[in-house]
Amino acid sequence: MPVGTSGGLCAGRVVVVTGAGRGLGRAHALAFAAEGAEVVVNDLGVGLDGTAAGADSPAARVVAEIEAAGGSAVAHGGDIATTEGAASLVRTALDTYGRLDTLVNNAGFLRDRMLVNLDEDDWDAVMRVHLKGHFLPLKHAAAWWRAEAKAGRTVAARVINTSSGAGLLGSVGQGNYSAAKAGILGLTSVAAAEMGRYGVQVNAIAPAARTRMTEETFAATMAAPEEGAFDAMAPENVSPLVVWLGSDASDGVTGRVFEVEAGKVTVMEGWRRGPSADKGARWSPAEVGETALKLLAEAEVPGAVYGAG
Ligand SMILES: NC(=O)c1ccc[n+]([C@@H]2O[C@H](COP(=O)([O-])OP(=O)(O)OC[C@H]3O[C@@H](n4cnc5c(N)ncnc54)[C@H](O)[C@@H]3O)[C@@H](O)[C@H]2O)c1
Repeated sequence: MPVGTSGGLCAGRVVVVTGAGRGLGRAHALAFAAEGAEVVVNDLGVGLDGTAAGADSPAARVVAEIEAAGGSAVAHGGDIATTEGAASLVRTALDTYGRLDTLVNNAGFLRDRMLVNLDEDDWDAVMRVHLKGHFLPLKHAAAWWRAEAKAGRTVAARVINTSSGAGLLGSVGQGNYSAAKAGILGLTSVAAAEMGRYGVQVNAIAPAARTRMTEETFAATMAAPEEGAFDAMAPENVSPLVVWLGSDASDGVTGRVFEVEAGKVTVMEGWRRGPSADKGARWSPAEVGETALKLLAEAEVPGAVYGAG
């Protein structure tokens, strides 16, 4: 679908993508625009560890790319992990386009260290950008959707949160990031349960793609292919699912988590109760230990933590 035509899966929708100046967010923003959406491209333009990276505005570059392809987009350069940044992000969508339909929470950065070496600042910075950086835009968008629903207008809003394999299984050297990304899964479940009544669907993805975040650490997995072969780790492979989740077409899908990379989409089935025992009275520690070992012998072994062993 050429950008700027009136058709497309997201024609008439206004989409906000956080951290859309590069990597996965940029790919999502371009893909939404190609399906007819008007896009608010947020990016603070920080370095890989979240520290300031000069006057560069990657959001403005992506807006220029969308406009050059005939689409419509506006840049927002605020910090989504602050109330002012999140509120002004939603306001930018409303002031520019008069509405907001889809929020893609994607911005983030890394401060990888083994837990024993992890400074409190590196813990706080990563929890803040991912977890608070998901909560605040969600809260401010939801306030508008709730007001719309209360005013009697039909809301078909979509939120796509960005978790990670690190949040699903854990990742050695990424204790802060794994905790934040696991927190996003809990936030997704609660937001889906609370906001369904206002017409808001909330889902999460755990992507994998070649970006500045992964191209060095996972150089072999992320390497670009030979000319002409399928570029499995291109960020653009993740965006079609995000665009569908962010469109009217995903009606009825909420509270779900998808792993997505290359040509593969997997529905994650999450925590579910395994073997259990009920004595109907208080156990002694020795007795409950013996029972726990029996239950563990019957239970499925959890997936391996990334980088363990
Ligand atoms: N690349 C992967 O394989 C992978 C795997 C799992 C999860 N993720 C997640 O996907 C998301 C995108 O990552 P990416 O790989 O494209 O990384 P990236 O570094 O290429 O892009 C992230 C963008 O977020 C922006 N950003 C950071 N803090 C911000 C803030 N406070 N406000 C606004 N913008 C801010 C950065 O400037 C950057 O442009 C992240 O949440 C990441 O944790 C990526």
